[in-house]
Amino acid sequence: MIEKTFSIIKPDATRRNLTGEINGMIEAAGFKIVAQKRIRITLEQARIFYEVHSSKPFYDDLCVFLSSGPVIVQILEKENAIDDYRALMGATNPANATEGTIRHKFALSVDQNSVHGSDAQETAASEMKFFFSDIEIIE
Ligand code: CMP
Repeated sequence: MIEKTFSIIKPDATRRNLTGEINGMIEAAGFKIVAQKRIRITLEQARIFYEVHSSKPFYDDLCVFLSSGPVIVQILEKENAIDDYRALMGATNPANATEGTIRHKFALSVDQNSVHGSDAQETAASEMKFFFSDIEIIE
């Protein structure tokens, strides 16, 4: 089934000018980037976006980090996009990420782990809607 997933290239990666290299890995893995923009996420937006983690000890630092610099928000389309993008990203903690994954190659730490990807169909739908309107998605 052709699916869409939501992705963020995080501030640690934009700071190191890795947008093109990460997009290259995404496209080489067969994803079509059907929407993309470079934005600054405010602290308030980050707190809403990551609300599911609000009870976790790392929540405040996570939101401060996500709003600390430019990010690329994007929508990726492919068969089985949600699970396949999580596989391409690699484990949340780069110490556990396997070779060939984005986080193995670029992530600096569990906090500065270069990319975010939706974990399920419902979260993909709500995360896409949070940042994009329908007319910004060009298949
Ligand atoms: P992400 O996939 O964007 O989802 C939530 C983020 O919280 C995660 O990537 C990590 O960057 C960050 N994080 C920080 N500490 C932890 C932790 N102990 N477990 C999971 N995620 C963490």
